[in-house]
Amino acid sequence: MQVMINQQVLELQLPTGRVLLDVLRDTLDLKGTKEGCREGDCGACTVLIGRMENDRIVYDAVDSCLMPVGDCTGKQVVTIEGLNTADPSPLQRALIEAGAVQCGFCTPGLVMSMTAYLINATSADVGEAVMSVAGNICRCTGYSGIRRAIERVLDIVPPGLFSSDPSTPQRITALIASGFLPEYFATVAAELKKMGLSPQMQTMDTQALVAGGTDIYVQRGEDLQNRHVGLLADRPDLKRIQVHEGICSIGAAVTVETLRRSGILHEVLPQLAASLELVSSTQIRNRATVAGNIINASPIGDLTIMLLALDAHIHLRSFDEKQQRSLPLRHFFTGYKTMQRHDEELVTALSFAIPPASARFSFEKVSKRTYLDIASVNSAMLLDIQGGMVITAHVSAGGVAPIPLYLSKTSLLLRNCKINEETVARTVACALTEISPISDVRGSARYKKLLLGQLIRAQLHRFLYP
Ligand SMILES: Cc1cc2nc3c(=O)[nH]c(=O)nc-3n(C[C@H](O)[C@H](O)[C@H](O)COP(=O)(O)OP(=O)(O)OC[C@H]3O[C@@H](n4cnc5c(N)ncnc54)[C@H](O)[C@@H]3O)c2cc1C
Ligand code: FES
Ligand code: FES
Repeated sequence: MQVMINQQVLELQLPTGRVLLDVLRDTLDLKGTKEGCREGDCGACTVLIGRMENDRIVYDAVDSCLMPVGDCTGKQVVTIEGLNTADPSPLQRALIEAGAVQCGFCTPGLVMSMTAYLINATSADVGEAVMSVAGNICRCTGYSGIRRAIERVLDIVPPGLFSSDPSTPQRITALIASGFLPEYFATVAAELKKMGLSPQMQTMDTQALVAGGTDIYVQRGEDLQNRHVGLLADRPDLKRIQVHEGICSIGAAVTVETLRRSGILHEVLPQLAASLELVSSTQIRNRATVAGNIINASPIGDLTIMLLALDAHIHLRSFDEKQQRSLPLRHFFTGYKTMQRHDEELVTALSFAIPPASARFSFEKVSKRTYLDIASVNSAMLLDIQGGMVITAHVSAGGVAPIPLYLSKTSLLLRNCKINEETVARTVACALTEISPISDVRGSARYKKLLLGQLIRAQLHRFLYP
């Protein structure tokens, strides 16, 4: 496979499933990228992946500890070594001067995430800039210094930087001229075009399908190291978001970040983007896919809970492409981590009927931390209320049963009801009869019951008292 590492195009003879972090550190001796948790939690291993999209180069920050090297084919991998010049860049200087560099172990990852922000941001918003490094943990609590450094960087970026479109040659040129990027970045797009875009898909190990890798590499990282895994992340047939005859279809390999930024989704479901901000970190959202969230079959998968409340259908196709079928997502899960998927089947898409303009979608999640954490309990709701009467209702709940739940009795009860406090009370009571939480590290069964009741109440109150 051909991969551009910083400014050098290399021919790598490696199993496609080998973790990028290990390739960088062990095979290529690029030790600037650090290994911390190896589970996507700390951001020490953050690198930038540059890929061609519609004739321009797009850079995403990703955790290299969860990315198969096969997914780097035809792309540029930027490590901290690839950002270094003779003198520290203005970004590196800001981190030093603001006292944001203490152990230094987490600093390379921080620099990579902030560089991705400078390439992709649309405004000099401190909050947004801070969110872009939310996946980079500083265990010595240097957050004030990091925030000061971010503010300093936003003060010294070239004027008008963020008014140019993200990831355009103008943006890259301005960042080169101001010393934030080394000069060779000006020639990368031309190099990538020569390399071609597609990863090599011929050797598909159907026992090891990898989409974003953010779940499977946490579970089976060691096992995948020497395998030619089945790479799904770059398959064009799995990456489309389409609207046709009132149905919105989301390709299986669409990432959470693509969903969050999708103009189509913004139009058909304006409330979705804010809900997706609660899913993990930028690095994980850049890789995590819709189908991965479903096949992971976690009872608290955020996307699964959102799609259940949209009463989505799941579409599957046999590997030999001879058979395809669809079924309601609410019938897909059969028990803890079991589902109605045959071994030789690929999820191709999820689809849902576009709600009427009068309908509203909501999502609530309680976790130990607001951001970057999986839920203790989560819940989503789609309600269409006209003249005070509920016309359509779909309610879902996660973390309160062995499977992600579509609350069918609760959804039915709400329909044709007047929305008032009595309905709220009856809905909560009904939801609690449909669940069977267990006590675990994320809370006792009693606590989870209480949480779900409060989440449903909060969502209905949002409709009742807009
Ligand atoms: C630090 C961290 C934070 C996280 N935070 C959250 C969070 O806040 N909320 C949340 O819901 N999840 C979270 N997750 C879990 C994970 O990121 C999501 O479940 C994600 O959507 C998984 O998608 P993926 O593409 O990375 O899956 P992968 O790891 O690539 O695959 C997961 C499983 O799905 C299978 N698979 C993937 N695509 C297909 C397909 N098209 N057809 C058939 N099988 C397929 C794979 O073979 C594998 O068994 C987090 C994970 C990490 C590491
Ligand atoms: S090593 Fe911690 S996120 Fe990769
Ligand atoms: S500076 Fe590295 S953990 Fe805080």
